[in-house]
Parts: sequence; C-alpha cells; structure tokens
Amino acid sequence: MNPEYAKDMLFSPLALQNITLKNRIFRSATYEGLGDPDGHPLPKLEQTYKELSSGGVGAIITGFCFVSADGRAMQPHQCGMDSDSKITSWGKVISSVKKTSGGASLFMQLAHTGRQTRHEATGMPVLGVSSHQCSYFRQKVRVLDNDTILRIIEDFAAAAFRAKEAGFDGVQIHAAHGYLIHQFLSPWTNTRKDRWGDKTLFLENVIHAVRRKCGDTYPILVKLSAADDTSPGITLDSTIAAVKKLEELKIDAVEISYGTMEYAFNIIRGACPTDLAMRINPIFKSFHPFLLKSWKILFLKRYLSRLIKYEDCYNFKAAGAIRKEISLPVIPVGGIRSLTDMEECLRTWRLDGVAMCRPFICEPDFAERIRNGISERSLCVNCNLCTVYCDTDEETCCRQKKRRV
Ligand SMILES: Cc1cc2nc3c(=O)[nH]c(=O)nc-3n(C[C@H](O)[C@H](O)[C@H](O)COP(=O)(O)O)c2cc1C
Repeated sequence: MNPEYAKDMLFSPLALQNITLKNRIFRSATYEGLGDPDGHPLPKLEQTYKELSSGGVGAIITGFCFVSADGRAMQPHQCGMDSDSKITSWGKVISSVKKTSGGASLFMQLAHTGRQTRHEATGMPVLGVSSHQCSYFRQKVRVLDNDTILRIIEDFAAAAFRAKEAGFDGVQIHAAHGYLIHQFLSPWTNTRKDRWGDKTLFLENVIHAVRRKCGDTYPILVKLSAADDTSPGITLDSTIAAVKKLEELKIDAVEISYGTMEYAFNIIRGACPTDLAMRINPIFKSFHPFLLKSWKILFLKRYLSRLIKYEDCYNFKAAGAIRKEISLPVIPVGGIRSLTDMEECLRTWRLDGVAMCRPFICEPDFAERIRNGISERSLCVNCNLCTVYCDTDEETCCRQKKRRV
C-alpha cells in the first residue's frame, strides 16, 4: 500500500448525482440512543455530530429514524421524523452542526420497522408484509392492507420532506437489515398475492413519493442488504436487479450491508456477548427464568452455529459484484477497519466510498487521524458491547476501557 496515494483517493471529493461530498468516508447509520420519549433529538446529539464532522467524515448518516409511530423500533431512545414539530428540533441540531464544524454532509436515515419491533414498544399492532413472524421479536403480525401500505409510502415522503425542511442535505432510505422495505424485497416475508407481491414495487413507490415531495434533485441514498440468512431470501442476484431499478430512478448511491435482525450478529459480526444480552435485553428479560434457561440449553448452540465469523471488509465482494453491473455509486459497510482496507475498497474493488459504524463509536475523529497519519487502523475490536446496549436505556458509546476517548 502507498499511504499517500490511498489518502489522495479517500479524501478526494465524491460527486453524486445531486450532491458532492467533501471526501469518501461515510459514518454509516448508527442508533445513538439520544432521542427523547417522543423521538425528538436530545441536545447531546448535536455534540455527537459536531465531533464526527470536525473529526473529518465526508457524510454523516443519522441513526434510523421512524417515519410513523407504528414503525418505531424497540430501542427506547430512537429518534423520529413523524411530525412537523420535529422540523424545529432537528433544524436546531443541523444548523448548529453546519455552523461550527468540518463540512460533513448530513443525511437522515428513514425507516419503518415492519415486523421487527414489539407491541410493547409502539403500543400498536405490529405490522408486516405477511403474517410471517420474526423469530427474534416473536410478535403476532398484522398483515398490511393496501390503504396502510399507501399511507406508509406517504409517511416516508412526508418524513423526507421534513428532513429537507430541517436542513438535511439528503435522506437515506433504510431498505436493509430486515426492516419493512427489506420485508417487501424478500420472498421469505413477501408471499403476497396482490400487486405488492412484486418485490421492488414498495421501494420504487417510496422513491417516487420522496421525489414528488422533495423535488427531483434532493439527494437520496438507499441502504440494502445484499443477502440474508433466510431461504428463499434476498440474494446477490435479486439485489442487483433491485439496484438496477434504483439506477433508473436516478438515486444518488446505494450502501451495501448484509442480513436481518433474525441473525442480527451477522449484520455486524464479531463477538456475541450472549450472557450480557440475556441480562439486559428486554426480549430476554420478558422470558420466565425457567424458559430462558431452557432456551439456552435447547437453542443457543444452534443460534451461535448460524453466526458468520467476522472478517475485515466482509461486504466488499457483494458490493464489488453489484458495482460491476451498474454505474450508480456503491458504498460498502461492514468490517472496514484500516487504511489498507479503504484502499482495497476504492482501488481493487472500484467502489466509490467507505462506510463505517463501530470505528466512529470508538473514535469519532478516526477519519482525521487517518488523514494526518496518526492512525492507520481503528481501535474497534468488534466486542459488540455497543450493539447489545442499544436495547437498553443507555446512549450508544464504546465500552472498551482501552479505547482512546
Ligand atoms: C451500535 C450500532 C447501531 C447501529 N444502528 C444502525 C442504524 O440505526 N441503522 C442502520 O442501518 N444500521 C445500523 N447499524 C449497523 C451499521 O450501520 C453497520 O451496517 C454495521 O455495524 C457494520 O459496519 P461496521 O463494521 O463498520 O460497524 C448499527 C450498528 C451498531 C453497532
């Protein structure tokens, strides 16, 4: 590796269809645990984004924000963009971040959980594309009717419009990780016999609706899982077909991830701190102790055997294969940890940028440290304590004592 050459590529501007980013480093969407009970951002979020922006990233994608109350996640401090009052609260965060630091572009990630939530979290029925329950959330699923589908499409558009009004440079539509759009894309969950059985129709309609509300030039990113752990599920071929449709719709870029919440540790990979999860996760806490013990004896081994071993850069191959088929910018996420990885991403795989999540939880200024030659590798050890604590009342942070900040 030639570090200077790698850095030149990495820190060169990235021109997307409707926006130019100052460099090719994305802070991938990361649930921050900094929303109030209604989903308004808490003041500390402003600080988090300022640190990332002054820490050198080219783009910040917010943690997933709910577009409607029935699409809220189980995480208690999730932010939302489901009402006009949030234009003001988010507007304050964005204008302050923009005024004071770094020049990162800001994207709001918009999501509806579909079946991947709990009735206890939303106070509403859990909605899904079909009645197929999620093995992790184990909730009865109410099948979406046509009117509700049309309403949720408009909810995405209204939330995107609010994001625009609040000053976000663009939005990212969360179509990955088993959430509602993924549920439409996947034959595992989309067994519908009506027109919504066309797997990409919902996503295409969301993009059209956002365009109608926000105009043709408002930047749109889409995050997709290139494959998952179900059969029949999402495959590389079905993802390539979906991305070709997105290319026709002239979105700005796709971010390539993996998996669903059924095997959530395959999305992120690394350590699986099961004992801790069983102590603090509300789903496990709701089990009777005897049931939990039995589950551990009967199913834990099988669950763990389905987890994929962590390797650096674990989504490059899929992202590279997608990039070969299209001219839309493709950004991989997952296990990117060093300058060498970043060079490989841009040079060998001819991808357009790099996205990282855990490295920035650990070191918000990781990009700047790379640029200044202070660091070549992230301090993140994939212990996944940050992940497990997402399900509690606590804000997201690095829990390794060794960490630098
Ligand atoms: C604490 C934590 C929170 C996350 N929150 C989100 C989220 O809100 N939206 C999303 O699309 N992905 C989320 N992810 C997944 C990451 O964006 C990313 O796809 C995954 O962690 C792999 O990247 P990494 O190896 O750089 O961490 C989260 C991951 C972690 C560890």
